[in-house]
Order: sequence, then structure tokens, then C-alpha cells
Amino acid sequence: MTTRRVQASAPGKVILLGEHAVVYGRPAIAVPLSGLHATVMVMPGAAGTGVVVEARDVGRTLRANQDTSDPLVVTVQNTLARLGVTDPGDLYLTIASDIPVASGLGSGAAVAVATIRALNAWLDGHLTDADVSALAYETEVLHHGTPSGIDNSVVTYEQPIVFTKARGVEPFVLGAPLTLVVGDTGIASPTRETVGDVRRAWQADPARYEALFDAVAETVRAGRAAIERGDAPALGAAMRRDHVLLQEMGVSGPELDALVAAAERAGALGAKLAGGGRGGNMIALVTPANALGVAAALRQAGATRALISQIV
Ligand code: MEV
Repeated sequence: MTTRRVQASAPGKVILLGEHAVVYGRPAIAVPLSGLHATVMVMPGAAGTGVVVEARDVGRTLRANQDTSDPLVVTVQNTLARLGVTDPGDLYLTIASDIPVASGLGSGAAVAVATIRALNAWLDGHLTDADVSALAYETEVLHHGTPSGIDNSVVTYEQPIVFTKARGVEPFVLGAPLTLVVGDTGIASPTRETVGDVRRAWQADPARYEALFDAVAETVRAGRAAIERGDAPALGAAMRRDHVLLQEMGVSGPELDALVAAAERAGALGAKLAGGGRGGNMIALVTPANALGVAAALRQAGATRALISQIV
């Protein structure tokens, strides 16, 4: 007899425009990164072990009855509660992910969404996308403190989205495919820290930060219109402007700025940091013809990885 197993995956993500300001109610645009995934498999566990979660890439094994405050265990417990399951029996969950942690690519949200979906499938649940996203949001709160909700949304719906806290996910159609190069500084930078720094800076000087967030919102509106009409040069200009605004917010850093400059020198239409900032990843908007050249320039400028991704 073969052992029953179910598995579910969720993609990484990048924020094209609007990170940080989205926490303060402004719009942002995010797209899934189909080249990077978190995958969770559920199978029966050894008798008497309860629920065990093995996070292979980070070398951790968690027991639901001991590691009760770990975000992975809390995700499992919240999902079981939402499904009305009090005793799931002995389960073994393995998590495998090629999305770098603390790098702005939505690793925490992807692991949460894949975990929720795998448990839902194992228990023959009927969770909708809205349910999955809401559960993953609860995990994002543990990781980030005050998340906007954009990461769990784009990872759950797995399509380009415009997101605002007030309206949630809005339908969004690309006028033409986009080619991005995602360059990694290799520096881990937890989103919780940069989001906290921006909050403190906003509290110290609300007028300045509200003006910066308004300028980001304008840039997002221009970028959205550019994406919808398939105008890559105009989107590139919006990305360049957004990077300057993020620098002014204090969330860029020398390594990110060096990669952004290298991408632009190599002919990118625009480039910016992506996600929480300080370290983590940046993105460059390119044409299919110069994607390889920009990726090579990023590696030469110190990127630990340069991933080419087509967004459709
Ligand atoms: C993180 O991917 C994006 C931030 O705007 C935080 C958030 O929206 O929760 C920095």
C-alpha cells in the first residue's frame, strides 16, 4: 500500500511599485515570481508524535505541542482551527523552499500559503482563496508586526495585483508582458526592521513622510497606467522615481544602490529596490534582448543571484 501524501506550492513575489507607502494606505503593485517556490508536503507521522513540521532549508524541525509560538506552528494551528479540526492525528509536514529568507521576495507568505493549502487538501477542506489569504495574513503579522497584506495577497492569487489596505486586491491586466531581472544583494534584511524604522521616522516627522507616501502613490498611479498600456519606458521611469523616494524614506542601502546603478548602466529601463529594503533584492525592468546583459552586470556588481523572470 502506498502512503498518502499531498503537496501544495506557492510562488515568491516582487513589489513593482509602492512598498512601505502601502502600509500607510497608499496603493502598490506586486507580481508573483513563478521561478521561485515554497512547497509543503503532508504525510502521516510516526505514531504518537502529533504534528511535526520539518523546514529543510533552514534545518529546523518543530513539534506542534512544544514549539507553540513558532510562526510555522501557529500557521498550522490557525489552519486546523479554521477547518474545525481539533485532532488531526500524527502528521509530518516537510517544507522546501528556494525563495531566499528575509530578502523581500515573500518567503514567509509563500511558506504560509503552501502550508495552509497543503493542510486544506489533506483534510479535504473547502478554503477559498480569500480564506487562504486571510490565514496567511495572520502569519505575516507574526513575521512583520504591521503588514499591509500585499504579500499574502499576491502569493495567494498568483497574479499581478494592485493592492490597497482599504480595497484589498484589484483586478489588473498587463498591456504587454514584462521582463524583470531580480538581483540579490545577499544581505538578509528582515522586513519587520525596515517597516519599524519607517514607522519611527514617520512618527518623528509625519508631514515629511506623508508627503513621501503621497509622491509614491502618484508614481504607482503613473506606473499602473504605463503597465496597462504596455508602455515599458514609462514604467521604468516610475520605478526610477520610486527608488529615489525609497532612498529618501531611508530604506535603501549602498549595496542596493550599487545594483540599481549597475542595472541602469547596462541599459535597464528602470530599477529599484524591491520589498523591505536595506538589503534583500532589487529589480530591473529590461527588454528580452538586454536581460542577459543586465543579469551579467548585476553579478559583476556583486549580486549573489540574478534571476530573469517573465511576468505575463
Ligand atoms: C514587504 O514586501 C512590503 C512592505 O511594504 C511591507 C508590507 O507591505 O507589509 C515593506
